Amino acid sequence: MQQPRTRIVSFGHYVPKKVVTNHDLEKYMETSDQWIQQRSGIKERRWVSEGETTLQMATEAAKEALEKANLTADDIDAIVFGALVTDYVFPGTGCLLQKSLGCKKPIPALDLRNQCSGFLYAMSVSDAWIRAGFYKRVLIVASEIQSTALDLSTEGRDVSVLFGDGAAACLVEATNNPEEGVIDTLIASQGEFAEKLFVHRPSPNDHPRLKENLDLTDGFHAHMDGKFVFKNAIIRMCEAVTTVTKKNGFELDDIDFVVAHQANMRINQAVLDHLKIPFEKTHHTIDRYGNTTNATIPLTMNEAVDQGMIKRGDLVALVAFGSGFTWGSTLLRF
Ligand code: UT7
Repeated sequence: MQQPRTRIVSFGHYVPKKVVTNHDLEKYMETSDQWIQQRSGIKERRWVSEGETTLQMATEAAKEALEKANLTADDIDAIVFGALVTDYVFPGTGCLLQKSLGCKKPIPALDLRNQCSGFLYAMSVSDAWIRAGFYKRVLIVASEIQSTALDLSTEGRDVSVLFGDGAAACLVEATNNPEEGVIDTLIASQGEFAEKLFVHRPSPNDHPRLKENLDLTDGFHAHMDGKFVFKNAIIRMCEAVTTVTKKNGFELDDIDFVVAHQANMRINQAVLDHLKIPFEKTHHTIDRYGNTTNATIPLTMNEAVDQGMIKRGDLVALVAFGSGFTWGSTLLRF
């Protein structure tokens, strides 16, 4: 019997209403619109206001994906949810989303934590489930609130100007058409560099029973060795796209469109330059939304599909790199 493949049905996304420009950030820290635009390509980002939660954004994004597919929550066989931090410490937001979407069936809701590469890890798991025949339709959702954990002092400016809040969803389903769907996904991690981009707290190890003279005055903001992350991102993203493309019998020239993680416009420009892929074969949302970690790829792809930049039949490469380190690339026929 022919093994099913995984096709992308639809996308959805949600961004908070509050727009925060680079000029707005100048009020908090020593920075400038010029520095941020030149070093990252970001002009503005969105921050949540009261009532906009990880779950609320995830629900809005998921509803758009379901509506575009003319499906309801009961047509989904599984949920794969990813976020850096979620509304509750536990349970994961996947279970909360199952409830908020009104799923009546007792489907599995899996929470993944793979930072900026989370969407590709989710795609890899969903594709494996579908190929194995476990599930026919999987809803992948990423929802990220960064703004409430940023260090808005000058000390934290290297990280805090880059990140924004937002959510995106992608509905995938089984197909027997060998001409469409996910061809392959490569995912990898390199834990030796975990502390090159990380947030230490809150941690279950911080408890007066375990530590004397516990100092909880810092450790709650992200720390990043920006230049080291930058260099590794370019190397691993180039390597991942090249490997997944060649392994499956294609050349880089065959790729019609690249959707890259939105961490820094200069990273993506360098990756495209190395791969000799023209800039017209990609789309960016970093200028308006900053780095929404796990949500960047489905959010950017949603726009690119809606605006007709990606068409059915196109060979599309997705690529990401992030904290962990983690990275990956998916090659698919849209
Ligand atoms: O999604 C996860 C993956 N994340 C990434 O891929 C991010 C990777 N890293 C980067 O994107 C870049 O390294 C940054 C955008 C974070 C920084 O750009 P850079 O070109 O590497 O700048 P830098 O860290 O070398 O800093 C250059 C200067 C420094 O001042 P001095 O030492 O030259 O006087 C920084 O203190 O820019 C200063 N600086 C800032 N100035 C104004 C750092 N952040 C800011 C800021 N505004 N926000």
